[in-house]
Amino acid sequence: MAATSSSSPIFFLTIMIIFLIQSSNAAYNVNVMSYGAKPDGKTDSTQPFLKAWSSACKSTNPTTIYVPKGTFLIKAVVFGGPCKSRIVFKIDGTLVAPSNYWNLGNSGYWILFSKVARVSIYGGSIDARGSGFWACRRGGRSCPAGARSISFSWSRNIILNGLTSINSQTIHVALHHCNNVRIQNVKISAPSSSPNTDGIHIQSSTDVTISGSTIMTGDDCISLSQGSKNVWIEQIGCGPGHGISIGSLGDYQNEEGVQNITVTSSVFTKTQNGVRIKSWARASNGYAKNIVFRNLIMKNVGNPIIIDQNYCPDKKGCPHQSSGVKISGVTYRNIKGTSATPVAMSFDCLSSNPCSGIKLQDIKLTYNGKSSSSYCKNAHGSTSGTVIPRSCL
Ligand SMILES: *[C@@H]1O[C@H](CO)[C@@H](O)[C@H](O)[C@H]1NC(C)=O
Repeated sequence: MAATSSSSPIFFLTIMIIFLIQSSNAAYNVNVMSYGAKPDGKTDSTQPFLKAWSSACKSTNPTTIYVPKGTFLIKAVVFGGPCKSRIVFKIDGTLVAPSNYWNLGNSGYWILFSKVARVSIYGGSIDARGSGFWACRRGGRSCPAGARSISFSWSRNIILNGLTSINSQTIHVALHHCNNVRIQNVKISAPSSSPNTDGIHIQSSTDVTISGSTIMTGDDCISLSQGSKNVWIEQIGCGPGHGISIGSLGDYQNEEGVQNITVTSSVFTKTQNGVRIKSWARASNGYAKNIVFRNLIMKNVGNPIIIDQNYCPDKKGCPHQSSGVKISGVTYRNIKGTSATPVAMSFDCLSSNPCSGIKLQDIKLTYNGKSSSSYCKNAHGSTSGTVIPRSCL
């Protein structure tokens, strides 16, 4: 009975119809090589990448843009939207920036996704070859502004998974006016001496998750500036670098606040700071509230726990105004390890605008095998469990 029906014309017709339906829904694929990209690291492949993007962007079917193994030279490029459907970048190769840093010039970005939605990037390595630019800055010569390696602006529903980014001129991964972004399993590295090479920078963005990533850099591993909301950061290995920072805030009189930020299950190794909130002592309506730092391990970290409302790194022309960014509702729970300086916990807040609602629970930070100490100025809150160094709240 079964054999008879499976050889019937109706059976074959059914199979054909299923096949046709499936292929019409199947993701459409484009390979950058078919647009002329060359994996030789020398030929400028910017236009072929843009042509592949434009074809994907126009397609009403979901499209995968495939970048095979090899090294592709890419100049400053904007992958702009809005696009008609979902786009996946599947990258097996490496994208390199031009070796002359003037080439990215003053554009501020190298690879920029602007006004896109439902874009996922899987795999890939990007190398901005920033060392010439850093040397220029260190030498105090006249240098271009510098470029962020990969940026997303005015975009939503973004996945960045498995990317390796090395030697950015400035920030490696930047989000600006984005919503619903997942950054997973990325590896970022630049030398500890490289200036302002933040790992991931978030600004004016909501619903961002960063997880399972390793960041070694010359500035903040992750920095969250004004307008960062609903951000979840977990399983980050940070170091070398300046730690995970909220701020600097108070850059402007009028700025958006930072709220609902969680940093958990992460390890800081030999970083300048662990978890830090920093703001300029300047009149501002900015704020930081509902912040949770928990389940963190500090290994020989300069300032494991720090709030600095008098931030002024160069100690030149510092604003010393009475009002500043309001910092409230900051929880530190289960933070253990070693401090590289005697003061493991420092809350330096302004008398006109004290820090409030700081909660400390189960902290153990030692310095040179002994208990470290804490510093408080205009900081208020509560303590529970064992807290070493002794709380000064
Ligand atoms: C806080 O952010 C998390 C994501 O990190 C989100 O799931 C949660 O809904 C947010 N809470 C509020 C009150 O918005």
